[in-house]
Amino acid sequence: MDVQLRILRFDPERDDLAHWEEYAVPAEPSDRVLDLLHHVKWYQDGTLTFRRSCAHGVCGSDAMLINGRNRLACEYLVKDAGRAISVEPVPGSQVIKDLLVDLEGFWDKYRSVMPYLVNDEVPEDGKERRQSPDERERFDDTSKCILCGACTTACPSFWANPDYVGPAAIVNAHRFIFDSRDHATEERLEIMADADGVWRCRTIFNCVEACPRGINITRAIMEVTRQIEIRRP
Ligand code: SF4
Ligand code: F3S
Ligand code: FES
Repeated sequence: MDVQLRILRFDPERDDLAHWEEYAVPAEPSDRVLDLLHHVKWYQDGTLTFRRSCAHGVCGSDAMLINGRNRLACEYLVKDAGRAISVEPVPGSQVIKDLLVDLEGFWDKYRSVMPYLVNDEVPEDGKERRQSPDERERFDDTSKCILCGACTTACPSFWANPDYVGPAAIVNAHRFIFDSRDHATEERLEIMADADGVWRCRTIFNCVEACPRGINITRAIMEVTRQIEIRRP
């Protein structure tokens, strides 16, 4: 069968405005939207530009607005997407070309939450920092993030205020704030308590719907908020 694929295209060297282009692409129901994009790029128009790497839902590089919702192109199957599929760049982001958006601001926010373990003490046995299964479980959900940005770019609070640190950065702050081995909780909570931190969340839930890893993002945001209230009354 053929799928009608509509792609919102924009080439800054040629176009003043983005415009839709349509492609008829042969596809099987088990194909992924990423396969359709590859078909267009390899056989129909080599100028089509998008990010992808692993093609298996691991690297987080191919988040796009597909049929009106942020998704990973490598995880969304034709049998679920239907025979008329629209693909646009993720919203709220500056388009560099076609489906490729500028994620520098996203990475700056990610880096701002110190997304790494902070602990200068030598472990008791000189080798490992031990953790019980319950302590590990405490941040298991947020450890699944693949940094695709689907949550932050789906968030209306972020669209309204691009300085909002955004759900992806909060998820990654949560992952270390609730890690019993980490010693930088206070610093991270200070960053989270900033005017553009967790308070900008209006519990709109778009982020949860968009997350390809099924992370309960709003719960993580609420848990970080609660920690701020407990530790910084
Ligand atoms: Fe992507 Fe989910 Fe991580 Fe957000 S929390 S960046 S949607 S994996
Ligand atoms: Fe945005 Fe998610 Fe909060 S969509 S407003 S971060 S619940
Ligand atoms: Fe890596 Fe889709 S290409 S997650």
